[in-house]
Amino acid sequence: MSTTLPGAPHLARRGASLQLDGVDLAALARDFGTPLYVYSQAAMLDALAAYERALVGRRHLVCYAMKANSSLAVLQTFARAGCGFDIVSGGELARVLAAGGDPSRVVFSGVGKTPAEMRQALTCSPTGVRCFNVESTAELDTLNAVALSLDRRAPVSLRVNPDVDAGTHPYISTGLKDNKFGVAHAQALAAYRHAASLPGLQVVGIDCHIGSQITQVAPFLDALDRLLDLVEQVEAAGIPIHHVDVGGGLGITYSDEAPPQADVLVSALLQRLDERGHGHRELLFEPGRSLVGNAGVLLTEVLVLKPGAEDGSGGKNFCIVDAAMNDMLRPAMYEAWMQIEPCVLRDAPAPVWDVVGPVCESGDWLGRERALAVQPGDVLALLSAGAYGMSMASNYNTRPRAAEVMLVKGQPYLVRQREDITSLLASDRLLG
Ligand code: LLP
Repeated sequence: MSTTLPGAPHLARRGASLQLDGVDLAALARDFGTPLYVYSQAAMLDALAAYERALVGRRHLVCYAMKANSSLAVLQTFARAGCGFDIVSGGELARVLAAGGDPSRVVFSGVGKTPAEMRQALTCSPTGVRCFNVESTAELDTLNAVALSLDRRAPVSLRVNPDVDAGTHPYISTGLKDNKFGVAHAQALAAYRHAASLPGLQVVGIDCHIGSQITQVAPFLDALDRLLDLVEQVEAAGIPIHHVDVGGGLGITYSDEAPPQADVLVSALLQRLDERGHGHRELLFEPGRSLVGNAGVLLTEVLVLKPGAEDGSGGKNFCIVDAAMNDMLRPAMYEAWMQIEPCVLRDAPAPVWDVVGPVCESGDWLGRERALAVQPGDVLALLSAGAYGMSMASNYNTRPRAAEVMLVKGQPYLVRQREDITSLLASDRLLG
């Protein structure tokens, strides 16, 4: 494990205290309660700037994949920075609009868009969304019918499955031919011909997304090559392709991964585009995790320590905290490793604990076998929690979801209040 903290330089220790943007995390836990998500706005904007600086002078659009963190203040931050958004539902579109995002900078991905969502995306503004990333021939037909019923033409890209191995966890790898996503590379030309024949559609681009938490440049270049092969065939068939959308997927540091910086990845892709004579095309990106992951932490208080038998005869040491799998699903769902740090270091022996939540599932753990000097009442921080944390949270075990704080120039803003039991019960109805 590296000695620098994931999330540095925004996340740092000063003496014994863990700080984000110079703000003491233990103090935030005291002021706002736990479990608590805390985000650095500056870290998010820095992550975006790494993409943007490599794209200067190029026609491009960075569409933040908001499924990674869909809190309105996060969307507002990116909208104000000129970002577009990658959405996968009508609900996400509503969030973009509520946060002041521009629909003409929105690409609509997803394998199962409903006709109602298509209508919403076509009519949410005079021009509707920028592009539908279509994933099947059947979807082309449905979208065509919906657009014609509204007297519109829907702009479309085909999400092509380039069949490259992104070398990531099987649950978050999406570009292999056995995945449910996208149109198979071999069928894409026929699908483009079909799209071009439909009067309610306007072909504008090509798209792919090969997976998530990718830590190498090579799979992205392979996917780009496969896309460009198709662009050449599709244009030879008389169908112009305006933009190339290379999706998201760039990884972050959770422990000792060393993914390329975004500007390194972008420069490599631009170089390949130029070499192949496609440098004039507009390039779209759909990054999620790499914009927000390292910008956030989840703070949780130690409730109970439950040591195993001292003679080693009975079980493990459990450190039971007030955050659980409903707040952060990644360890339970992907066996994801996320670093856990005390917000205030103790000068004491550090036994090995399984850090677990109060939910009634053996899979409810946040970290296994972690050496920590802790006492009940201490606050721990789960690092790199800005992506796929709050956006995947649930109310399992009727647990209210956590509050969220965003740090803006060192000032904490409560950007989502903690849910309460009343709001949890509000949608339920008793039988007559
Ligand atoms: N575009 C599309 C079409 C996607 O499906 C995704 C993520 C992205 C962009 C953004 O990918 P990113 O840059 O964040 O890797 N819950 C999992 C990750 C699921 C990713 C799903 N799709 C996790 O916590 O690791």
